[in-house]
Amino acid sequence: MALPGRHRALILAAALAVLFLSAAEAGTVGVNYGRVANNLPNPAVVVQLLKQQGITQVKLYDAEPTVLRALANTSIKVVVALPNEQLAAAASRPSYALAWVRRNVAAYYPATQIQCIAVGNEVFASAKNVTAQLVPAMTNVHAALARLNLDKAVKVSSPIALTALASSYPPSAGAFREDLAQAVMKPMLDFLAQTGSYLMVNAYPFFAYSGSADLISLDYALFRPNAGVLDPGSGLKYLSLLDAQLDAVFTAVSKLGNYNAVHVVVSETGWPSKGDNKETGAAAVNAAAYNGNLVRRVLSGNAGTPRRPDADIDVYLFALFNENQKPGPTSERNYGVFYPNQQKVYDVEFVLGGNSAGGGSSKDNGGLGWQDNGGVGSGNAPSSTPGGVKATSTGEAWCVANAMVGQERLQAALDFACGPGGANCKAIQPGAACFEPNTMVAHASYAFNDYYQRKGRTIGTCDFAGAAYVVNQAPKMGKCELPSTAV
Ligand SMILES: *[C@@H]1O[C@H](CO)[C@@H](O)[C@H](O)[C@H]1NC(C)=O
Ligand SMILES: *[C@@H]1O[C@H](CO)[C@@H](O)[C@H](O)[C@H]1NC(C)=O
Repeated sequence: MALPGRHRALILAAALAVLFLSAAEAGTVGVNYGRVANNLPNPAVVVQLLKQQGITQVKLYDAEPTVLRALANTSIKVVVALPNEQLAAAASRPSYALAWVRRNVAAYYPATQIQCIAVGNEVFASAKNVTAQLVPAMTNVHAALARLNLDKAVKVSSPIALTALASSYPPSAGAFREDLAQAVMKPMLDFLAQTGSYLMVNAYPFFAYSGSADLISLDYALFRPNAGVLDPGSGLKYLSLLDAQLDAVFTAVSKLGNYNAVHVVVSETGWPSKGDNKETGAAAVNAAAYNGNLVRRVLSGNAGTPRRPDADIDVYLFALFNENQKPGPTSERNYGVFYPNQQKVYDVEFVLGGNSAGGGSSKDNGGLGWQDNGGVGSGNAPSSTPGGVKATSTGEAWCVANAMVGQERLQAALDFACGPGGANCKAIQPGAACFEPNTMVAHASYAFNDYYQRKGRTIGTCDFAGAAYVVNQAPKMGKCELPSTAV
């Protein structure tokens, strides 16, 4: 088929190759190895379990020598932590920070592949009184690493809780608390940018869902097919609560300056398999869906958010084990993927196996849509999605281009839609009804929408590797109105 503009057919093969290649840059999945329990296996046994499960990254809450020794020569990447209790000393005394780094990092590296030091954990929430010491402590720890020539290999960060945000809904209104924004977050982001490190965020859709189960759809929280939530501020449509939470963080960060180079790592996320009566949603089946769908999405390279479709987001699941000595409601002791006896609490995989055929061990069927959200990018043509689920069972819906992914990705997706995708792109040829406005976004929107309508608006057919999203109001570009049916 003749494509608008240049001789696109000639470069189609190359463009598709680029599309598939970019999808290969998947994020990574790690686990938090918390040890607030009196019945856990010894670290050597735990390391065998990690290896068996194909887990390549682990995050600790301290720098326990037996654990760091057990992880030596395994090539498992490790985040160690300087606990909140030691923050004040590390902030006020560079010599303390240097001694800490010598004893807890340099002594094990490189046999133990320590890649990051988490300085404190959820400091604003759990150790308010040392909030002012946080960035000075991070700075001293980094200086200690530099002094030992470890600063290139080992990054310094500090996991923040979502409660650092004054506003997280809608995502376009994301903002840090006023007492933290200029005083702590801006200097922290400057530090992270200068040192090539990343912002660590602990994000739990479970808390938001559980607190407002009457308002929030469970499918939306669990990455299952759902009608989505439109952010009126940005026009972006959200198909998962985690995306919305992360974009609230991205928005909050952007209000403090241009920190596009600072990646976000989800340092904790998870879903409890059990809870008290009041803890709506805490259940093994939901935990399996949340974690399973999340892992598949991250590993297939589709973890970007509507605001940051290109982001390859790394996540650390919380947690490896159920921890029987954690205080708080029942859920707190039931976030583990494994029981202390190393049996799985529910089925979840940490590597992408032969899952694409839909076979294999028990999958959360609902996750299919999300997995296939990768669409073109995941290498599974959306058209090969048997039993796809309607995104919107009521009302009309249209698919439009996401300008934020840039011209190159839009072009590649446009080429796919009008080429092998089988969209009818006659209307965007020169002289035809929708050639004007002659912009990439307008042409891509037309083609994506035709493809989406043609596929019966099934989930995953309006994604194009993050280059498209669904809207529920008729989009008009110039005189061109996007049809709500295939033409
Ligand atoms: C790791 O491997 C190195 C080199 O083979 C060896 O010298 C070292 O003892 C090993 N470390 C541990 C803790 O097993
Ligand atoms: C912060 O509070 C904790 C617990 O209340 C206390 O143990 C610690 O000494 C305090 N630290 C500073 C620097 O005030």
